[in-house]
Amino acid sequence: MNKTIIVSNRLPLQIKIENDQLEVTPSVGGLATGLKSVHNDGKSLWIGWSGLTEEELSEARSKEVKKLVTAAKCDSVSLTQDDLENFYYGFSNRTLWPLFHYFMEYTEFDNDYWESYKAVNQKFADKVLEHLEDGDTVWVHDYQLLLLPKLIKEKMPNTTIGFFLHIPYPSYEIFRTFPWREELLHGMLGADLIGFHTYDYERHFLSSVKRILRLEVNFNEVTYHDRIVKVDSFPMGIDYDKFHDSASKHKTDKKSELQQRLDDHIQSGSDAKMILSIDRMDYTKGIPNRIRAFEYFLNKYPEYKEKVRLIMLAVPSRSNVPQYQKLKRDTDELVGRINGQFSTVSWTPIWYFYRSMPFENLIDLYTSSHVAMITPVRDGMNLVAKEYVATRTEQDGVLILSEMAGASKEMNESMLINPNNFEHIADTIKYALEMPLEEQKSRMKILQKRLKRYTVEKWAEEFMKSLHATKHLGAVIV
Ligand code: UDP
Ligand code: G6P
Repeated sequence: MNKTIIVSNRLPLQIKIENDQLEVTPSVGGLATGLKSVHNDGKSLWIGWSGLTEEELSEARSKEVKKLVTAAKCDSVSLTQDDLENFYYGFSNRTLWPLFHYFMEYTEFDNDYWESYKAVNQKFADKVLEHLEDGDTVWVHDYQLLLLPKLIKEKMPNTTIGFFLHIPYPSYEIFRTFPWREELLHGMLGADLIGFHTYDYERHFLSSVKRILRLEVNFNEVTYHDRIVKVDSFPMGIDYDKFHDSASKHKTDKKSELQQRLDDHIQSGSDAKMILSIDRMDYTKGIPNRIRAFEYFLNKYPEYKEKVRLIMLAVPSRSNVPQYQKLKRDTDELVGRINGQFSTVSWTPIWYFYRSMPFENLIDLYTSSHVAMITPVRDGMNLVAKEYVATRTEQDGVLILSEMAGASKEMNESMLINPNNFEHIADTIKYALEMPLEEQKSRMKILQKRLKRYTVEKWAEEFMKSLHATKHLGAVIV
């Protein structure tokens, strides 16, 4: 039976050394959480980085890691400390990530980073080629591996290769500033199918292909050497039943400590309401904007003091990159200032957690919050918004969502906001807190119906179906 090889920078499990012992944790972020269910079904192998560098691995430890990774139907690519600095923290997260999220001022163009990016993409290609057999399908993921499709196609031209970008693809005017723009496009075009979350990202990509490489683009097909490359949008969904069922079950389960605290909070005020936000601590997520908008709301509608609380879960991320460090400092300071200014003996306006939480606690948070406020300034999709909706088993609750998140394209029934417009956000928070139950339900009902229909399994299925259909596109006669 032919297999599917999934390739992404991070494996779904991450290994760390704690007190001289290997510690395994699940990876965070939309890519890992979303693809997990795809990986569990069918015959597949997942290739990626384990979380440990070569320098951290003794011979004995390598064997132990190999065992853990193999048991999870994975294989790991070995990266050095230097790869981590230049490929991961460097080119991936100081060049591509900010540029693709329209943060030009954060983008560093550095030749050493670029050299490392090429070398590490080659390492991934070598690992894929080790496992690749005739008839296998390869599915490459995300911005860390833009050169990989081409590297595989050159060696094994008959392999069917799919590529999916989990972050936004920027407009041509942004992408054109990139010094190695041709190489990146050629790298991606090694795939037979290139997928994006939204139609806008797809359009931007096709526009770069036309204007930079001067290739012929016919509707959503690119004529490339002797092949046709198909480009399409596939908005990623979630494992709806997992979230919905856990939320239903959660009502009867023994309460976690966090849930107990949340319940105490809910019971402490007659109409105290909770507004929730969950994101990786990333400057694209609009965390300071959100806090300032909440402050603006408290000043504009002081009658809500002591009646509402913002619960913010920020998951540590890429903390070696200076902009992430600054964001952490700014966030700490903002939360401290606002709590200092507004707190009373019985009320703290912001509860702020800087850590990751196990799945059960995420469900506690989702199910206890009257409002979810997701305000990225730029986000490829945003699965948290979808997860919140899936857990609302009584169909109550309100989602406030930034129109800059890919998810907003499919979630029109949420309260869409511009994350820079504090006046509008403040009014929307008030509206959300006062929204009649009937309206909450009618919005939730439509949102849930859509999410239930287009789950992450469906997303993968559609992508794979479309990828296998590319085999019939045939070669171009030149
Ligand atoms: N998440 C997690 N642990 C946490 C907080 C969040 O695993 O402590 C998950 C969350 O459930 C969601 C993902 O991380 O599935 C975040 O995905 P999203 O698309 O919202 O943003 P990304 O991190 O990919 O930019
Ligand atoms: C986003 C990206 C993923 C990445 C994740 C976590 O979801 O699209 O590719 O894995 O963030 O970021 P990290 O840098 O920790 O892998």
